[in-house]
Amino acid sequence: MKADNKFILIIFGASGDLTIRKLIPAVFRLFKGKLLTTGQFIVLGVSRTEMSDDQFRHKILKSDFINSDDRKSDLMEDFSKLLHYTRLNTSEPESYSTLKERLDELCKIHKLPENFLFYLSTPPSLFEVIAKGLSKFNLNDDQDGTFKRLIIEKPFGYDLSSSRELNAQLHTCFEEDQIYRIDHYLGKETVQNLLVTRFSNSIFEPLWNRNYIHHIEITASEKVGVGSRGGYYESSGALRDMVQNHLFNLLAMVAMEPPVNMQAQSIRNETVKVFQSIRRFSKKDIRKNIIRGQYTSAHIGRKKVNGYREEHGVDKNSETETYVAMKAFIDNWRWSGIPFYIRTGKCLPTRVTEIVVHFKSTPHYLFKERHENVDKNNILVIRIQPDEGILLKFGIKTPGTGFKTKSVNMDFRYSDYADIYMPEAYERLLLDAVHGDATLYPRSDSVEEAWKIIDPVLKEWESNKDIKLYGYPAGTWGPENADEIIEGKENQWRYPCKNLSNDGIYCEL
Ligand code: BG6
Repeated sequence: MKADNKFILIIFGASGDLTIRKLIPAVFRLFKGKLLTTGQFIVLGVSRTEMSDDQFRHKILKSDFINSDDRKSDLMEDFSKLLHYTRLNTSEPESYSTLKERLDELCKIHKLPENFLFYLSTPPSLFEVIAKGLSKFNLNDDQDGTFKRLIIEKPFGYDLSSSRELNAQLHTCFEEDQIYRIDHYLGKETVQNLLVTRFSNSIFEPLWNRNYIHHIEITASEKVGVGSRGGYYESSGALRDMVQNHLFNLLAMVAMEPPVNMQAQSIRNETVKVFQSIRRFSKKDIRKNIIRGQYTSAHIGRKKVNGYREEHGVDKNSETETYVAMKAFIDNWRWSGIPFYIRTGKCLPTRVTEIVVHFKSTPHYLFKERHENVDKNNILVIRIQPDEGILLKFGIKTPGTGFKTKSVNMDFRYSDYADIYMPEAYERLLLDAVHGDATLYPRSDSVEEAWKIIDPVLKEWESNKDIKLYGYPAGTWGPENADEIIEGKENQWRYPCKNLSNDGIYCEL
C-alpha cells in the first residue's frame, strides 16, 4: 500500500444523523468491497458529546443503516476496530490541541502518515471555526508531502454574500485545492452516466442543441415531507436546499459544452460557463417564471399527512417554500431560446428525479391518426432515481390498416444487470477525496455563480410579500399555477411514474 493512499478520516459532527445514516455506512461498504482496507485507514469521530471509542462503536453497531447480516459479521468486527472517537469543544480553537495530540497518537499506533481528510458534517456556522482551529495547530499544512483535505457538507452559504465570505474565510486557512464541497447529487452513478451518455455516443451530440431540442425538464420530486428537519428547513426552503446546488448541477451536466478532457478543472470550467450563461431573473421574471408553494395537510389514503406549518420546528405562519418550479434560459450559442423547466418539491406523489429532453416535432407531421395520450415528439428520459436508467420514446405504426401511430418506449435499466452494484453517492465521493480527485466537487467560483442566479430571487421574495406562496395539498404535484409557466398549449409538466419502464403504460406512484 503506497503511503499516499493511507489516511485518517476525521468526521466532525460524528454523533449526528448524517454520520450514522450515510457516512459510516458508506465507509463500511467501501471496506466490504475492499476499496478501503485494514492498515490503510482509520476513522476518528469528533463531536461535543462525551463518548469513548467503544461507545461510539456501539452507537454505529446498533444503528440499522448497515444491514443486520453485515452488522453481525466478522467483517464488521474488523471494521469497528478502525473506528475511534474523541470529544472536542469544536467552537473553541484552543481545544484543537487535544485533537492534534490524538491524531499524533493514532498515527503512531496505526503506522499511518499524517494524511488527514476532515469531513465537516456540522451546522454551517461551525465551518469557519473548525477550519481556523485546525490551522491554529498546523493541521492544514500539507507542505511536507502529506495531504490535508477539508470536505464540507452543504449548505455552502445562505446567499451570495455569505458564500463569498465563507470562501474567503476558508481560503485564509486552506488552499482551494484542499477544499472539497459536497453536492451528493454529483456522486450519483446516473448523474455521472449523463456525461458518458452525452460524450461517448456520437448519435446525441448533433441533436443536443436549440435546433432539435424543444425544451428540457428537470424534476426532483420527493414523497416525504421535512420530517424532523423542520428547524433546518425553515432557514433554507426548497430554492436553497435543492435548486441552488443539486438541480443547478444537473442542469450544468445536461447543458455543458464537451470538456477538453475528464480532468477536474476541465469539467468544473464548463460548469462555471453554464452558470454564467443562465439568464438572470428580472423582477418581472421572478413573478412570471418562478412559482413557489408550500404543502398543506391532506389525507393520503386513510392517513392524514401534516401540512408544512404543522411540522416539528416550523413556524405556524411560515412562509418557507417546500416547492419551486421555474423556467430558466441559458443565453449561449447552443441553448439560446430553449426553456429549461426545473421543479422540486416535498410531499409530492412519488420520489423521482429525472432529466427529460423533449425533442422538436418533425417539421411536417404526415400521420394524422394518432392514439390518445401519444407523445408527438421524441422524448429522452434520463432517470436519476429510482429505477435508474434511460428511456427513449419514439413513434411506431400500429399493425393493421392505415397509418395509426403510437409511441413506444425503448429503455435501459440498471436493474436489468443483476450483478451490477450501484454504489451510494457518498462512497464515490469519499473515495475521490481520498485520491485527491475533485472532479465531482463544486469549485468556489461555481458555487458563487449559482448563488448569483438565486440571490435576486430570494431578495425579491423576502421584500415583496405579495408574491404568492401557493398552498398545495400533500400528495399532489404542487400548485396548479406551475402549469402556467410552461410554454405552448400542447405542453405540460410530465407526471413521472415511479418505475421507469412503466412510463406511459401503467403508472405506479
Ligand atoms: C438534501 C436535502 O441535500 O437532499 C434534502 O437537504 C433532500 O432536503 C435530499 O431530501 C434529497 O436527496 P436524495 O439523494 O434523497 O434525492
